[in-house]
Amino acid sequence: MTDNTMPAAGNGEPAKAWSGRFTEPVSDLVKRYTASVMFDQRMARQDIRGSLAHARMLARQGIIAAADLADIERGMAQIQDEIERGEFAWNLDDEDVHLNIEKRLTALVGDAGKRLHTGRSRNDQVATDIRLWLRDAIDQILALIAEFQDKLLDVAEANADTPMPGFTHLQVAQPVTFGHHLMAYYEMSRRDAERFADCRKRVNRLPLGAAALAGTSYPIDRESVAAELGFDEVCFNSLDAVSDRDFAIEFCAAAALLMTHLSRLSEELILWMSPRVGFIDLADRFCTGSSIMPQKKNPDVPELVRGKTGRVNGSLIALLTLMKGQPLAYNKDNQEDKEPLFDTADTVIDTLRIYADMITGIRVKAEAMRGALSQGYATATDLADYLVKKGLPFRDAHEAVALAVRAADVKGCDLPQFSLDELRIAMAHVPGAAERLAEDVFGVLTVEGSLASRKHVGGTAPEQVRAAIARARKLRS
Ligand code: ARG
Repeated sequence: MTDNTMPAAGNGEPAKAWSGRFTEPVSDLVKRYTASVMFDQRMARQDIRGSLAHARMLARQGIIAAADLADIERGMAQIQDEIERGEFAWNLDDEDVHLNIEKRLTALVGDAGKRLHTGRSRNDQVATDIRLWLRDAIDQILALIAEFQDKLLDVAEANADTPMPGFTHLQVAQPVTFGHHLMAYYEMSRRDAERFADCRKRVNRLPLGAAALAGTSYPIDRESVAAELGFDEVCFNSLDAVSDRDFAIEFCAAAALLMTHLSRLSEELILWMSPRVGFIDLADRFCTGSSIMPQKKNPDVPELVRGKTGRVNGSLIALLTLMKGQPLAYNKDNQEDKEPLFDTADTVIDTLRIYADMITGIRVKAEAMRGALSQGYATATDLADYLVKKGLPFRDAHEAVALAVRAADVKGCDLPQFSLDELRIAMAHVPGAAERLAEDVFGVLTVEGSLASRKHVGGTAPEQVRAAIARARKLRS
């Protein structure tokens, strides 16, 4: 059960006070308001794992008896089973995932269950659970980024020679290849992966042992718990261990950047798919129709990626705001960290999954891309560079070409359609320009000539695009 309507108790018993310290129970509203079991039950597996590691350490250190450990292990195995079968009775009265599991354990194995919480607090317990959960989420995200990259590289490779207009200010700027354009997104995704991998290092530290905030007087062995749970090290300050959530904020920041990159790609897919542009078509399975306009095929999936980026950005702000006013150490505010965090991970995971599939479903309309290239004087810079290479200063060359573009505008043609004489006449007002033009100028005015000339590392020449893809594949393997 995962909603706020979860029944309290469910056993017909009247609501109980928290402990002997309280004289009256909380109201139903307060109970619902303060409970987190509706959403933190997602960490049940991590909670059990953490508890088992803690219990084993307690037994190794002689803090609980071997028989107690055996009872705890047996009880937890059953609880795990009940949860997996969907038979575990989550109870709002027991506030959160930790108390629900502990209570069930005690019901199953008696006193050993009550001993589990020795030397521990829910404060270090919950911080441990989140870190374990987030570590798994990051590993899943890293694998999905790799899958997305593989697909992106395939499409880029198939289009290493496909010319399209590169834009600045959404105006035709210079020819690029579609493969080169896609490889820009590969580079973004590579940095995204680096950010998640780096964030993982700081996630992967063990808070357990910090107890409520000051540590514990029992002779615990934190390093062995860290090793059993696969943490790289322990958190070195008990107050910090239970109170800070910077690792979650970092994760959300990495997620917001990843989503921002995919949102930009989405915006391009949407634009390219518009009939006014017509550079690509998306596979039908990512689009929907309209209930009123029979002709419509809408790019819903990229639009939703763009939209969901807003909620991921929102979660980042939510966590930053959650943290900023908190004095040390743990405060209940921190219970609010989970929903934004879970939602962020869910959104990123679903988005990456869908994107890997969608990328391969792109149908490239090479003729339309090439058609657009003949409309915006895309090789004007190449013409200026030609004049510079023949000795004209760049500023003069820039002006000469500007005049040629104006003449082409008047004539209603593209630069390569001029004759040599027409080009010379167009540039006549710039001293030294016209006489530098020769027949070989038509070699640089072509799209292929322009592309091939940008053959340095990071350039759009098809050979460089292939080199970039090969480099990326090598990094992946
Ligand atoms: N459900 C709580 C949370 O998510 C667990 C820690 C509660 N600790 C406390 N002292 N109330 O943060």
